[in-house]
Amino acid sequence: MDGNGRWARKRFLPRVAGHKRGVDMVKEIIKACDERKIGYLTLFAFSSENWRRPKDEVSLLMELFCFVLEHEIHLLHSRNVRLKIIGDLQPFDDKLRHLIRHAEALTQANTGLTVSIAVNYGGRWDILQAISHFMRAHPERSVADLTEQDLAPYLSLHYAPEPDLFIRTGGEQRISNFLLWQLAYTELYFTDTLWPEFNATALDDAIASFQKRERRYGRTSEQLASGS
Ligand code: FPP
Repeated sequence: MDGNGRWARKRFLPRVAGHKRGVDMVKEIIKACDERKIGYLTLFAFSSENWRRPKDEVSLLMELFCFVLEHEIHLLHSRNVRLKIIGDLQPFDDKLRHLIRHAEALTQANTGLTVSIAVNYGGRWDILQAISHFMRAHPERSVADLTEQDLAPYLSLHYAPEPDLFIRTGGEQRISNFLLWQLAYTELYFTDTLWPEFNATALDDAIASFQKRERRYGRTSEQLASGS
């Protein structure tokens, strides 16, 4: 969700106004995904690198996360949304960690859209934590014979299928340490639209672009056409 700061700057507003407007778009996109019967939406809200931002901006973002978890969770719950938070939660304060636990517990049995929010998340961290959890659970195994299937249950998004579509707003054409493992076969979509302007119509444009792609998974177009 890139471009909040630029959206605010264009309007001579503080950066946090862009993040607040970003929350409005998060709500609109969750509603749009729900209406389109999309099963899983994963949002990158705070990367492990975002701690390098000015202290004031980091604390305002933390306050915003707390506010959303406290005040929007009932709306999500009423929409049958299952909320998950992924990332290294250790550095967060007790209040935020409590709100996360509460929001996940409240919505865990919901059967609609699964919304995962990545906070203090990094794709490399995810792979390393999965290896280390696997090795702790299976001390008899050696790293040398580790398989992809071994790691799958220990990755942060173990409960979700691999993503079909990755969308980055705000004009940069990078993955920036997001779901490195899970994006292996994902279609990538980059748009100049800033996150606070990425509405349901923009989502439909991204989906239309995805629908035109041919997903070959290493096969040829001819093999796909013949169904082999
Ligand atoms: C990147 O834009 C955005 C962030 C680092 C924060 C994203 C947070 C939100 C959308 C609000 C909170 C979300 C939830 C799910 C509670 P940027 O600040 O890097 O923008 P810029 O590149 O224009 O400076």
